[in-house]
Amino acid sequence: MNAEFETHEHDVLIIGAGGAGLRAAIEALAQGASVGVVCKSLLGKAHTVMAEGGIAAAMGNVDSADNWRTHFRDTMQGGKFLNNWRMAQIHAQESSERVVELEQWGALFDRTEDGRILQRAFGGHTYKRLCHVGDRTGLEMIRTLQDRGVQMGFDVYMECTITRLLKDGDRIAGAFGYWRENGRFVVFKAKSVVLATGGIGKAWPITSNSWEYTGDGMALAYEVGAELMDMEFVQFHPTGMVWPPGVQGLLVTEAVRGEGGILRNRTGERFMERYDPKRMELSTRDVVARAIFTEVREGRGTEHGGAFLDISHKPAEYVKRKLPSMYHQFLELADVDITKSPMEVGPTCHYMMGGVRVEAETGASTIRGLFAAGEAAAGLHGANRLGGNSLSDLLVFGKRAGLAAAQHAKGQTTTPIDAAQIDQAEREMLAPFEHQTGESPHAVHGDLQQIMQSLVGIYRNEEDLKSALQSIGQLRDRIQNLTIGGSRMFNPGWHLCGDLTSMLTVSEAVTRSAIARRESRGAHSRLDYANLDAQSGKQNNIIVRRGSEMILRQEPIPAMPADLQAILDEGKGAGA
Ligand code: FUM
Repeated sequence: MNAEFETHEHDVLIIGAGGAGLRAAIEALAQGASVGVVCKSLLGKAHTVMAEGGIAAAMGNVDSADNWRTHFRDTMQGGKFLNNWRMAQIHAQESSERVVELEQWGALFDRTEDGRILQRAFGGHTYKRLCHVGDRTGLEMIRTLQDRGVQMGFDVYMECTITRLLKDGDRIAGAFGYWRENGRFVVFKAKSVVLATGGIGKAWPITSNSWEYTGDGMALAYEVGAELMDMEFVQFHPTGMVWPPGVQGLLVTEAVRGEGGILRNRTGERFMERYDPKRMELSTRDVVARAIFTEVREGRGTEHGGAFLDISHKPAEYVKRKLPSMYHQFLELADVDITKSPMEVGPTCHYMMGGVRVEAETGASTIRGLFAAGEAAAGLHGANRLGGNSLSDLLVFGKRAGLAAAQHAKGQTTTPIDAAQIDQAEREMLAPFEHQTGESPHAVHGDLQQIMQSLVGIYRNEEDLKSALQSIGQLRDRIQNLTIGGSRMFNPGWHLCGDLTSMLTVSEAVTRSAIARRESRGAHSRLDYANLDAQSGKQNNIIVRRGSEMILRQEPIPAMPADLQAILDEGKGAGA
């Protein structure tokens, strides 16, 4: 076939331009690599901006007792000890340095009285640890990284979707995609590729994620034979908007609770007293999300099926200064003045703890030349991520992946493009135009979202999960027969056909892993296996492709060194 396509060539190709992708790009540039950054949307529009409340880093500016050891312990406890302990160690040790660097590059953080970076409380963090810019921290981070990267000189390819990674034997050789605007194909030759594509929120109907987040990086990695890990762990952020319907799922930052917000049910009860009397609203996200879900299910929810989150006991000026985005969001979208009235909130699919299995130091996947960082990568957060640990993750592991990708590229030559792989990628993309009859990708997407919400949601059981797996198989059959109108010129229906392939792959991986984990741990809650299981807690679920089959195996988590174990032991009885 080989329809016309343009070609670009870089040492390092970064797919995704959120915090991890931008930080990786900056580091690869600093190593002298030529860097291309591909983003599905416009530069600057990334899920990173939805991490509103802050960057977790044990700087000790507000609570001087804080240090990396406590951050490490909190992260491991929050992740129910399923975390890659080496990643948790590196993250806790390096995040402060990454925040200072961000400040030197121009990020304007809120300040303590004596001029240091201000830090606030967040769930599961022992100390006030979240460096923040009001409730717009992710936005400030993206702005800063973007400015830096553009100044340093990466090439940006906006509104471009990658549908296939290209290989040369057992190593990565580039990527194939299309321009969303005109549907023309594009090939990127690259010696290293970094996946920084974020998560898979759009497989659920109620989500803080926007349209870009369809699990692309995880599916791309899986297709070329890389391993995925612990895919059952999907984070439902406890507080998304529930009303009006058009904005359902939109994030209500944890900073509201960090600044003293109180959760109540419709009877006025401060119900977190029953779920976690010690930490209350600042319990970990898995616990708070289950609490709100349970209150609603048992008939104590608000009019629109949520809980009340109230910050109106704080002075109005304080609320507007600390939470300016939340103030405007509720006033403009829900006609609620949060300085006077409570918000209505409920769980929203926010984040994927699982992802591409990577090597802790470098972000290297199991495929030569393929790296992953940020939400696309697994390991750091274990069974449940603490709020604020995502922004620090992006900085710490984005930098490391960029460095490793540039170093890898130095030892490689570029190879000619394999026409057969491009042929295949083109054929897949053009198939929906060839079907005269068939069904709309929107119908299949709607059905997938209903399956994931009702059968692979906050609470799970074997019967539901098996039913979900069967239904996902049927959806896979249905996508063989999608049809779309129009041409390749900006055609969202056509774009969704490709995204559906990724979403189905990742949803299947989530469901298979959820079936295999017969215990409740962190964000994975099984009604039929309600407790932690010591044996299961020592294993990671690994997913890999064998031909057209998805294979799952369980691997023991490597033993933790004695010095790290001692840090955990020091905290015994202190945390969750
Ligand atoms: O609630 C928030 O501001 C989100 C933060 C995060 O996901 O880390």
